[in-house]
Amino acid sequence: MDLSVQIGSVRLRNPILVASGTFGYGREMADIVQFSQLGGIIPKTITLEPRAGNALPRSVETPCGMLNAIGLDNDGLAHFLEYHLPYLRTLPTALIVNIAGKSAAEFAELAQRLSEQPGITALELNLSCPNVAGGLDFATDPRLTFQVVEQVKRVCRLPVWAKLTPNVTDIVPIARAAVDAGADALSLVNTFVGMAVDWRRRRPILANVTGGLSGPAIKPLALRFVWQVARAVPVPILGIGGITTLDDVLEFLVAGASAVQVGTANFFDPTVTMRLVAGLPEALASLGAQSVQEIVGSLQA
Ligand SMILES: Cc1cc2nc3c(=O)[nH]c(=O)nc-3n(C[C@H](O)[C@H](O)[C@H](O)COP(=O)(O)O)c2cc1C
Repeated sequence: MDLSVQIGSVRLRNPILVASGTFGYGREMADIVQFSQLGGIIPKTITLEPRAGNALPRSVETPCGMLNAIGLDNDGLAHFLEYHLPYLRTLPTALIVNIAGKSAAEFAELAQRLSEQPGITALELNLSCPNVAGGLDFATDPRLTFQVVEQVKRVCRLPVWAKLTPNVTDIVPIARAAVDAGADALSLVNTFVGMAVDWRRRRPILANVTGGLSGPAIKPLALRFVWQVARAVPVPILGIGGITTLDDVLEFLVAGASAVQVGTANFFDPTVTMRLVAGLPEALASLGAQSVQEIVGSLQA
């Protein structure tokens, strides 16, 4: 069985990756997960400067999912280069570094500095973060999305994956803008804005009031985005949203994702990705397939 997948110029061992923000910087998972079994890992978003993130509480469990408002808590690029990257680049799997900037120029600076570093397979742009000039998330606006991807591509030799937000009326023009600007793949989707209320105290549960919903609750929503965008753009898609079981993986692949990222499931079942990889050959065989690639986008709708 050929489990390998092609994401633009990048060949991955298999289509199971771990999503940014749910796998730390790899070290945290070293005793639990065999990195050599994974298609790739995507560490937590890094920003140019360190960020403390939002006030506590910043996550809460919800039915079939969770809300988080971590606020891109991270130690910044310099610390990543000095401490995390030397470790991450030794791991026997693809490394996709996820970045966020407050402006297109900041995204480009991060991309340029990372592109000088050995051992990085691709960059993922977290476009679901606020643009400091306008307050809006970059990926809610096709023009801003285009600007960021274009400026990054101009200074960066690495493949670029644009990670989009689902919190928009129509994602297709935004996906097209990212592709027109040169994105090599699209990661779909980030979390859905929601909130949780403690009615007894008449207060929001998250200090930030709103947060991003993730986990099994969002799977049908994420599937719709993947299916819709896969029909509209020619680049590979990484499906993200609630993926927990082998059925979930196959659903995303058939709907048009070339690979998937597992997020929240890592928190309640840290070995989940190992089982998904192990079960893939049998699931593919049950479709009469000999490779992952041949079932991608095979949905008859
Ligand atoms: C606690 C937490 C932190 C996250 N942090 C990031 C992040 O730093 N950067 C990013 O691009 N996405 C981040 N995400 C979003 C996930 O990568 C993923 O897109 C989303 O959770 C949907 O997938 P899931 O339902 O499998 O979790 C985070 C998600 C969670 C739950």
